[in-house]
Amino acid sequence: MQNSFNPPERVLMGPGPSNIHPQVLKAMSRSTVGHLDPSFIDLMDQIKELLKYTFLTENEVTFPVSGPGSVGMETCLVNLVEPGSKVVVCINGVFGGRMKSIIERCGANPVVVEEEWGKAVNPEKLDNTLKANPDVRLVAFVHAETSTGALSDAKLLTEIAHNYDCLTVVDTVTSLGGTPVKVDEWGLDAVYSGSQKCLSCPPGLSPVTFNNRAIEVIKNRSTVVQSWFMDLNLVMGYWGSGSKRSYHHTAPINALYGLHEALLLLKEEGIENAWNRHADNGKEFCTKLNEIGLNPLVPENERLSQLISVTVPDGVDEAKVRGYLLDKYDLEIGAGLGSLTGKVWRVGLMGYSSNKKNIQLCINALKDAIENT
Ligand SMILES: Cc1ncc(COP(=O)(O)O)c(C=O)c1O
Repeated sequence: MQNSFNPPERVLMGPGPSNIHPQVLKAMSRSTVGHLDPSFIDLMDQIKELLKYTFLTENEVTFPVSGPGSVGMETCLVNLVEPGSKVVVCINGVFGGRMKSIIERCGANPVVVEEEWGKAVNPEKLDNTLKANPDVRLVAFVHAETSTGALSDAKLLTEIAHNYDCLTVVDTVTSLGGTPVKVDEWGLDAVYSGSQKCLSCPPGLSPVTFNNRAIEVIKNRSTVVQSWFMDLNLVMGYWGSGSKRSYHHTAPINALYGLHEALLLLKEEGIENAWNRHADNGKEFCTKLNEIGLNPLVPENERLSQLISVTVPDGVDEAKVRGYLLDKYDLEIGAGLGSLTGKVWRVGLMGYSSNKKNIQLCINALKDAIENT
């Protein structure tokens, strides 16, 4: 027999995944039960309640989609977008671009609100675009753009969308658990996230939540949702309420044990405390960056605490630095994407990885690497 795979012990400070709490890994190694076992149904109900706590919502339709964040993105969009419709999509980085691509594949026509990479979505531009396109009924945007580290004002963007009788689809893959995401208070209509960032779970699950306005729109669609797997009407036969649950797909059972444990840990810490921890650590990291002569790309008022793009100084080979960090320190940080390729490093301080020890490790390692590569 071949040897089992034994991964190196890395410190994960890239754009995700983050390191996983040992209790989460332990929970995932427990015995597998059937996906309709009464004990598992009970666990599913607990996960839904814990997700409501995390999203700050009373939405009944709140559950983890079986699939990574991109499947959550696609679930929100395929259910809410009808062929031939017009959808406003805000693009200030890679993930807004991914939303646009899905909207096109749904047979709809995207109207883009473009922003420079490294900046938040501009509310005035959204307002002007909606004014000019009165037939739009849906606005999609990314709350925390992981490709740049910019945080947009989800509350204000949703307020503007609602003024024009539009619903919102909001990407909270990097914000949930690390930055306030107040689904009910801000009126966000359809929201998705990912398990592998500030929730500190392995990748592969995407928490989603839909309010009644969004569910009404889905119920009144004039066309069938083109994806069988992601059609909410079908998935909710399994994830819906009540004792009558029927087979839809075989849920990733052990992964859900992990999510449950991670959400318990988050609740134990308290969601506000988790936001504050991320905010404090992000600030401290940026102060220390300045002390070694490095600068964050995003201005402080639009900067995420849990994902910081660091400008690569002139004359420094960014890929060599990342290689050095991995080889010498077992430390992973991320590269820039798209128009920021080669220009920034992306440092994640997410979930279990967001701690003082990691801040100091990363600062020391970056200083060493810049001096010695
Ligand atoms: C903002 C954002 N949206 C969507 C995704 C896609 O998530 P996944 O890679 O889990 O499919 C990511 C992943 O990094 C992300 O950062």
